[in-house]
This record gives sequence, structure tokens and C-alpha cells, in this order.
Amino acid sequence: MKTRIPLVVLAASCLLVSCKKHQSASRYAGWATYAGTKDGDRYSSNDQITLKNVSRLKVAWTYSTGDKDAANRSQNQCNPIMVDGILYGTSPKLKLFALDAATGEQKWLFDPVTVDTSKKKDAMAFYKICRGVVYWQDSTGGNKRIFYSVGQKTFAIDAENGKPIMDFGKGGYFDLSEDLGRKVNSYISGTTPGVIYKDLLIIGARVDESEDAAPGHIRAYDVMTGKLRWIFHTIPQPGEIGFNTWPDSTAWKHLGSANNWAGMAVDEKRGIVYVPTGSVGGDFYGGHRKGPDLFANCLLALDAVTGKYIWHYQVVHHDLWDRDLPANPNLVTIQHDGKTIDAVAQITKHGFVFMFDRTNGQPIFPIEEKPVPTANALPGEQPSPTQPIPTLPQPFARQHFGPEDVTDISPETHAAMLERYNKVKYNTMFTPPSKDGDWVFPGFDGGGEWGGAAVDPETKIMYISNTEMPWAQVMIDVPKNVDEHTLQGLGHAIYNRYCVTCHGPELKGNGTSFPSLVNIGKKYKGDQVSQIIASGRNMMPSFKQISAGDKQALLAFLLKIPAKPSDAAILAKEPPPTAKNVQNPVPYMMDGYKRFLDKDGYPGIKPPWGTLDAVDLTSGKLLWKVPLGEYPELTKRGIPKTGTELYGGPVVTKGGLVFVAATKDEMIHAFDKKTGQEVWSAKLPAAGFATPAVYAIDGKEYVVIACGGGKIGSKSGDSYVCFALP
Ligand code: HEC
Repeated sequence: MKTRIPLVVLAASCLLVSCKKHQSASRYAGWATYAGTKDGDRYSSNDQITLKNVSRLKVAWTYSTGDKDAANRSQNQCNPIMVDGILYGTSPKLKLFALDAATGEQKWLFDPVTVDTSKKKDAMAFYKICRGVVYWQDSTGGNKRIFYSVGQKTFAIDAENGKPIMDFGKGGYFDLSEDLGRKVNSYISGTTPGVIYKDLLIIGARVDESEDAAPGHIRAYDVMTGKLRWIFHTIPQPGEIGFNTWPDSTAWKHLGSANNWAGMAVDEKRGIVYVPTGSVGGDFYGGHRKGPDLFANCLLALDAVTGKYIWHYQVVHHDLWDRDLPANPNLVTIQHDGKTIDAVAQITKHGFVFMFDRTNGQPIFPIEEKPVPTANALPGEQPSPTQPIPTLPQPFARQHFGPEDVTDISPETHAAMLERYNKVKYNTMFTPPSKDGDWVFPGFDGGGEWGGAAVDPETKIMYISNTEMPWAQVMIDVPKNVDEHTLQGLGHAIYNRYCVTCHGPELKGNGTSFPSLVNIGKKYKGDQVSQIIASGRNMMPSFKQISAGDKQALLAFLLKIPAKPSDAAILAKEPPPTAKNVQNPVPYMMDGYKRFLDKDGYPGIKPPWGTLDAVDLTSGKLLWKVPLGEYPELTKRGIPKTGTELYGGPVVTKGGLVFVAATKDEMIHAFDKKTGQEVWSAKLPAAGFATPAVYAIDGKEYVVIACGGGKIGSKSGDSYVCFALP
């Protein structure tokens, strides 16, 4: 009997302290961070839903904020998180919600309009991309807060009541356009959430990708105060590592981008944060940014406590094809040459997986510096003579788009598309952009994209949603043939400088992602257009740097406002852009973002157009690749499933499944993780261009997906749909 007393005491103390943790850990499993875990692996350890029962999945609940705006292509790319039974996520207008994660019942809703009253009239100012939110609590389980970005403001919201924490930062938020070492006027916006390490929120941001973009430095903020704790300069400054690789020693003062917009991963044990970066602006001409452009297009390993450099690997040198690293890295432990190695794997838009030893940046499989074409580059350009190509893992996307790959969906379409194909001269990866044109394949939106990869830590198999769409890259002179002595002419020049890459020289857009502005005056009044320019919307950046006079000229051009006597005063004050001291003026630009689509809107390449791929990270072998999504009307015609363009990532589960939405056909799918066989699918209210969150409460497993649609011509939606077994 005597010996039992201490046991009881032990049990009681356990109940009070450590077992509380243990109990909550067993009640709730999964999805406390963006991408599921800080490893970035989109893995769920839940196994209630299996191959055997997946066909019985039913909608458990749906939640909607009533936010969708079909006319304005609202979207929702949020991967929500679940902490202690509560689901946190955002709506198309960036309202932040807390729901009972089992029932979908709303606990609170935070609407950023309530704090940013200056924008109250302009609800569209809140149409921004937010891919997720971050949770933090202190070591006693108190001070619970959610961090999330609404444009350039990163808010700290009380996780218990949905109210901004007013003693944080500047009154509930910090401003991403500050603390960058120079005044930033141009666009900056939080998209993919950052990561927590101890009491630091480590973040990147989306900036515009032009030659006068804001700096893309990596920053860590104190989770309690909202004060900057460290900054890592992604374009190195005098005395910093990498500075000597820049022929222009002033580059750091006037260039920008090299930003992290795709998320990060943290090795908690070692205190290292892994940060993928994008290219230096402007995207397609680099005469003003000679050299390899460190630390653009890099995987960076930084000390999470101090922000100090540990190692880097540059995946694309002197990028001329917008080959930003598009997704958070995956941390995985593998066996290699008889050794256990803690590795980091990075997927790319061009369809590779780069793998390194996490501790020192040594490649796991050899990476070869291969010669690439440099002839026919634009005057002033200095393309890199080599680019790194991994020997393994095998690429998960096709690497070449030749004439033999042109669609054969019908003889007529083939003939028409082959003719168009032949108008673009070059089809080798890494051919420098030119007026003759080159095929960017996999396209500007990957290959791999922000949906990211899922990795099963038990099998070391990586799953990727992969798009295979060719885009034509054709360069033109920056147009100058406008009369800058009239207000409309000045407006045209402003348009050519800021808008033409996306909306096109003839204002026609590209049909799907970039709308036509030809008759914009019929749709909007001048002040509405002005507001869109000032705030940006969805994937369109804002242009606050355009002065009031220049904006009036731009509106005169867009809305075809006839000349007035009062124009003279504006023209006298506003020197034309050609005469202005323009930052980093570039002589060439791309003539628009052009997917290769046939007259019916189908990709002009032979299928598959979108696939789910499985790559074995131990052997480096591409295990399988299956079409993901379909065009039902083509399937009816007897054409095997083609897959569609994909926006959103997969989740792999211990239960043997891969869940993924991401398809244009508005479905969510489950695949057998071993074979790639599709074992279940369900129709969503709108396309799930996002990554699912998979979690369990008291052993019951839930799969939640944001159904925001709004991309590539799909209808908009505003609901989250949750599936579970009945
Ligand atoms: C990086 C690409 C990009 C650039 C540069 C850009 N836009 Fe846009 N723009 C977009 C996208 C994408 C949309 C669609 C936004 C949405 O989903 O609502 C858009 C939408 C618009 C709309 C609303 C169209 C409609 O039918 O609702 C206007 C007006 C507009 N842009 C004007 C401009 C002007 C003026 C400029 C130059 C100052 C400009 N844009 C520069 C990408 C761009």
C-alpha cells in the first residue's frame, strides 16, 4: 500500500501540469501552422480516413462569410490552421475568423475595415491574397494571438476574442513598408504567412516585380511588441556576404524584390530558418542588375535567432524568366549512402527538386552547372553561361516544349496552334528572352507553385501538384511612340511604364488572368479606377508611387477623356516619364503574360496539363505521375483525363491518402498515396484554389478546403467546406 501513495501523487501532479499538455495533444491532432507543421510538409498523422472508408466521406459543415464578389473575381487561397479545436482562417475580403473546427460554428469575426476606416468606402481595397495565418502563445499558454497580413499591415489579433492587440506595433499591427532601410512607396503586401521561432515572427512579403520594386528583405518581429528584431538584406550591402558578387556596388540602394513570398520552414531543434527567394526586379530584363543577383532565386539558411547568414544555394543565376522559388521548402530526414541526413528539399517552377544537407547546404545528389544558350540576348543583357541542374531527383515536370508536343486535340486546332507555335523562335530552357520569343515551359506559374509539396516522413515520398502550361515570352522595346504633350498622351506613357506588361500594349489583357481595360470607362467611374490603382486588387499590385498629376493623365488615357484647357496646368507640372529621372530605366519589356491556349481555351500542348506527382526522395526516382482534374466535356468525348492548370497543394496522410483540390473543374480529390489511383472526389461550390487542412478532434478526422475560385476564368466563391466520415 505504502508504495502506491507516491504513484497517486505523481498521477495528480501529472494531471495538473504535463498531462494537460498531453491531453490536449491527444484530443487535437494536426494543422497548427500553415502547411501543417513547421517542417512545411503538409503531412497529417491522422489515419481515421483510409482507402477503405474514404468513399463514405460527407460534408460535415460549410462556412461562408458572404464575401464573394463574382464581378470582381474575388479569390481565397487560404490554408486555415486548427489550434485546440478552433479553426482560424480568412475570407476573400480578408476578414479573419475563428470557428469551432468540428462544427463550423463561428466564434468571432474580425473585419479589417473596422480598423482601417480610411478604406471603408473602398471594400475592394481588401481584396488581397492571404494564404494563411500564424498562431502564437506564450510558454504558460497565455497571450494567444493570431498574426495575419492585410496588404501591407501585419495584424496581431487576440485569438480568444478577435480584437486587435492595441499595444502591439503601431496599434494592433506593424507596417511592412517600414523598417526596410529606405523609404518605400511602391507595393508591398503580406501573402504567404511567416513562421514562428520562439518569440519571433519571421516574415517575407510580396512586392511588385518591376525594376523599382521595394526591397525584399527577410525580417523578424517580436511577437509581443511588434518591434523589428532582425533584418537580413536579400541584396547584400557593403561588408555583407555576397556584396562583392554585384558589379554595381550601389545595387542595394536602388534595386528591389529578391523577396520571400512563398513561405519558409524552420528546423526548431537547430534554430535555422530556410527561406526561398524570388528574382530581382524587373523580371525579364537584367541589364541593370548584372551578375548572378545574389540572394535572389536562392534557398537561404539563416540563424532564426539573429538572422545571420548560414548558407545559401542559388537555384537560378541572373533570372530572366521569373523563376522565383515558389513554395516553402520541405524538411525531411533521409537515408543516403548509409547515413542518416537531415535534408531540406525545394521544389521549383521549372519542375526540379533541389535537395541539400540541412546543416551545411551540401547537395544530396550532385547538381551540375550546365552550359545554357546565351546568344541572341537583348543588347545590354548578360545572361549567365551556366545554370544548376540536379542529376536527381528526376524532374517532376516535362522540360521541353517542341513542335512535336503541340496539341493534337483536332487536326484543325493542331494546324492553327503549330502555326502560332512557330512564331516563337526558341524552345530550350534558359534561352535568354528576345524579340524573337522563347517558350517558358513549365510556365510562369510552374511546374511547382505556391501550393507547395507534401512529404510523408515515414516513406520519404514527396507529392507535388504540377502544371504543364507553355507561356510565350516575347520582348518588345518599351513603347515610346506617344505624344507626351497631351494629357492622354502622357497617360499613355504612364500606362506603358506601369501597366503594359500585364494589360498589354493594346489594353486587351490576356483573356483569363489580366482583364481587358479597353472599355474600362463603361464599367467604372474615374474615382473607382483611381482607387484600384491606389489599392491594387487580388493579384494586381497597387501603384501608390504614381503621382496625382500622372494619375489624372492615366485616367484621361484609360477613360478617353477629351482634352480640356485645365490639362495645360497638369502638363506643366508633370514632366513626361521619358524626361523624368526614372529609377533603373529598362529599354525592353515583355509584351504580356501569354499562356498558349487554343480557340476553345484548352492548353496548346498535348496533355497532361496538370498532374499529381510522387517523387521518392531517397532514390530520387519519379514514382508516378497521374492527371489531376479534367474537362468533363472532353472526358465525355472519350479523351482520357487531361488534368487542368493547378493552384493549390496536396496533403498526404498516415491513413494512406493524398487530398488535393486545386483543379479548375471545382473538385476535391483523394488519391491512393502508394499507387496514384484516384479513390474519391467531390464537387465544391467553387474551385478550391488552396491547400486543404487536415486535422482530428477526439479521433475524428476532418478535411477542410477554402473554395474561393476566381482564378483562370473560374467563378468566385466564399465558403470553406469540411469533409468527415458520417
Ligand atoms: C502585375 C500585373 C498587373 C499590372 C502591372 C497592372 N495590373 Fe491591373 N490588373 C491586374 C489583375 C490581375 C487584375 C484583375 C484583378 C482582379 O482579380 O480583380 C487587374 C485589374 C485591373 C482593373 C480592373 C478591371 C476590371 O475589369 O475590373 C483596372 C482598372 C486595372 N487593373 C488598371 C491597371 C492600371 C491602370 C495599371 C497600371 C498603373 C495596372 N492595372 C497594372 C494585373 C495588373
